Amino acid sequence: MRDKIADLLEKRKRAEEGGGKERLEKLRSQGRLTAFDRLRMLVDPDSFIHFGRFVTHRATGFGMEEKKAYGDGVITGLATINGRRAAVYLQDFSFMGGSVGEMHASKIARTIELAVKLGIPVIGINDSGGARIQEGVDSLKGYGDIFYRNVMASGVVPQIMAIMGPCAGGAVYSPALADFIIMTKKSFMFVTGPKVVKAAIGEEVTFEELGGAEVHATRSGVAHFVVENDEEGIELIKRLLSYLPSNNLEDPPFQDTGDDPFREDEELNSIVPDDPVKPYDVREVISRIFDRGTFLEVHRFFAPNAVVGFARLGGHVVGVVANQPAVMAGSLDIDSSDKISRFVRFCDAFNIPLVTLVDVPGFLPGTQQEHGGVIRHGAKIIYAYAEATVPKMTVIMRKAYGGAYIAMSSKHLGADYVAAWPTAEIAVMGPRGAIEIIYRRELARAENPEEFVKEVEEKYRREIANPYVPAARGYVDDVILPSETRRILYSVLTHLLDKREKHPRPPRKHGLPPT
Ligand code: HXC
Repeated sequence: MRDKIADLLEKRKRAEEGGGKERLEKLRSQGRLTAFDRLRMLVDPDSFIHFGRFVTHRATGFGMEEKKAYGDGVITGLATINGRRAAVYLQDFSFMGGSVGEMHASKIARTIELAVKLGIPVIGINDSGGARIQEGVDSLKGYGDIFYRNVMASGVVPQIMAIMGPCAGGAVYSPALADFIIMTKKSFMFVTGPKVVKAAIGEEVTFEELGGAEVHATRSGVAHFVVENDEEGIELIKRLLSYLPSNNLEDPPFQDTGDDPFREDEELNSIVPDDPVKPYDVREVISRIFDRGTFLEVHRFFAPNAVVGFARLGGHVVGVVANQPAVMAGSLDIDSSDKISRFVRFCDAFNIPLVTLVDVPGFLPGTQQEHGGVIRHGAKIIYAYAEATVPKMTVIMRKAYGGAYIAMSSKHLGADYVAAWPTAEIAVMGPRGAIEIIYRRELARAENPEEFVKEVEEKYRREIANPYVPAARGYVDDVILPSETRRILYSVLTHLLDKREKHPRPPRKHGLPPT
């Protein structure tokens, strides 16, 4: 027995060494943590249960018989993270560059499958050279199995992917099928690498320019979060988890934040400038309405004309969606439509009530947007809100014009409660545009056009673009003081938490959201 114990301990030690001590040291010298370092940081002490610790590949040829390591380049198992159960996998770059062979893939696929059965989140730490070249189609089959599990898990359990090294080729599609992607500054993701790009289209581009964290956080929108390093990434995974339920049958975790939900904030009464074209930072509004310090912004650097993220209101998790008047006057465009609709659908899938803060002049005009498909992208917001059955609360702060008014969680798309601030302007379009259309002739004839516009603008605001006309129709439930927004939203939320969607919907296989 003693020998057998010694043998097992030796094998365990070797399993921890992945591709060997030298390679582990090389990774550390590059400022990257090893898979086991990351595991120790991610999970609660002594909570990790290995699944497939001694798995090895069974490939032959190309010297594969000699290249073997316990685990086959990926750690998989169950653990608790800040007391919450989770299924985790971490690719180990030290063994064959974390490349995905048949057995490596089957470990990941099994982890996701297990997470669905147990109703717990999947956390994946990706650090891999992609499909293991030596294993050919077995490797591709493995990827297919992972993608299939990602899709089956979608909307059932949260899937969080951190990219902490390379993620190239078709490999990118597993994170893309998950819910959140966190990229470290040293990581990259691309379907086709710089060498192939050069050969195929002659374009010269670096790894960072093509698929670095900054590009994906700001331009492509592939990354929801960008972090400085592995440690920050792991802290972020923990923080993100604290807002999410473990599965679609659970409510998100309540946490007493100690912030009085009935607190009023006088500053909010002066936050919206008197001048309707003057910008302000909606993050300031968010930080004053929700529990202090609880806002976790998602997609912060992508489509900054909209702001989305998780926050707490009286300790309850809510999803916040807001137009950002400080960027492009808060208008909706292709990217912000994708950002908002995706976030709304996530919240709906995981029972997270939505609070929408509206100040939107409309959809962004121009050929770039029209040719880029702002019609089909913008339609996603309408689809997502109409489809969502979680509690939906809306506050119209200032502008709410045209299709953008309808899209931003209006009563007409099933919002449960809509409040407007006295500064709200709700109409088909803003006064200037409206006057140019309906008073075109009068304007041309006017002796003093400026005076004329001023006069009709006042009339337009008095008779049309204000909160009381929609309030008279019941489209706005109440006109409230900005200072009392937090208290009122909290009170409404406490009623809506038990909401059950009453509208019968015709049975169907699935709808066809615009894409
Ligand atoms: C087998 C691989 C591998 C792979 C890396 N390695 N990628 N082995 N299959 N895909 C091995 C290397 O041979 C090397 O082994 C070790 O991992 C470390 O790799 P290095 O190149 O030394 O590391 P580094 O310089 O840090 O470069 C990392 C890298 C580079 C940029 C990721 O390795 C690389 O370009 N790899 C290929 C990436 C790629 O094109 N993958 C296929 C994408 S297509 P030794 O023994 O020398 O240390 C794809 C299709 C998926 O994935 C389809 C799914 C649908």
